[in-house]
Amino acid sequence: MNSLELLFILFLLVPLSHATIIEVDFCVADRSLPRGPEGYPCKNPAKVTADDFVFTGFRGEKTITNIFRLNGTVANHDTFPALNGLGISMARLDLGVGGVVPVHSHRTSEIIVVINGTIIAGIIDTNNTAYYKRLEAGDVMIFPQFLLHFQVNIGKTRALAIVSLNGANPGAQLTTPALFGGNLPAEIAAQITLISPEEVRRLNMIFDRIDTASYTSFTA
Ligand SMILES: *[C@@H]1O[C@H](CO)[C@@H](O)[C@H](O)[C@H]1NC(C)=O
Ligand SMILES: *[C@@H]1O[C@H](CO)[C@@H](O)[C@H](O)[C@H]1NC(C)=O
Ligand SMILES: *[C@@H]1O[C@H](CO)[C@@H](O)[C@H](O)[C@H]1NC(C)=O
Repeated sequence: MNSLELLFILFLLVPLSHATIIEVDFCVADRSLPRGPEGYPCKNPAKVTADDFVFTGFRGEKTITNIFRLNGTVANHDTFPALNGLGISMARLDLGVGGVVPVHSHRTSEIIVVINGTIIAGIIDTNNTAYYKRLEAGDVMIFPQFLLHFQVNIGKTRALAIVSLNGANPGAQLTTPALFGGNLPAEIAAQITLISPEEVRRLNMIFDRIDTASYTSFTA
């Protein structure tokens, strides 16, 4: 095969290698229709307005009431339907004094910029090596896709950070609520974690007492 033929074959393969082929300028989610693996069907473009491209949920003061002392406001394809299909989303994180974003992971990478306060943010890789660092206002850190990561407010004031994720619905799997706040039987939770049944019951009680939606809006 000569190089021209090879180039031609590569040219043919290029469009096939893209899972999503962009055929339209935008695809604001029509959330009345069922969601597929690549997002929602598009809202009728004739009905799209400038407001669809604006998310105002980061405005104002956030109240912090839950056990993690966290208020996470998520702009994903459910709360900000114009993100549908664009592979990008954001969240505002407000951490009270001593507040944390408990250890969790996403389907995507995440980049954080600290706006106010001082936090320790970290990643734990698949070798169980933790990479953690004190971040001040203005600092940026990346959390590679799928890896466990966390943030802890170590300052004497509230902390505020904004994160971006390279998916319109990155999801968030919070390890502790997943193990002790869902429907996993306590006995199995104790067996698979080596945590004592008494401690598992204590954690179950903590999470049973609060509605999962009350500690974070990281759903969907
Ligand atoms: C976050 O703060 C907003 C504004 O005060 C409040 O309406 C919302 O309930 C808070 N969410 C959580 C999870 O505390
Ligand atoms: C992870 O651990 C393995 C085995 O000890 C080692 O070969 C590898 O280099 C480590 N990877 C990283 C990224 O540290
Ligand atoms: C940053 O924190 C200081 C001290 O808590 C506070 O006075 C200020 O309003 C905060 N700024 C923002 C943007 O949150």
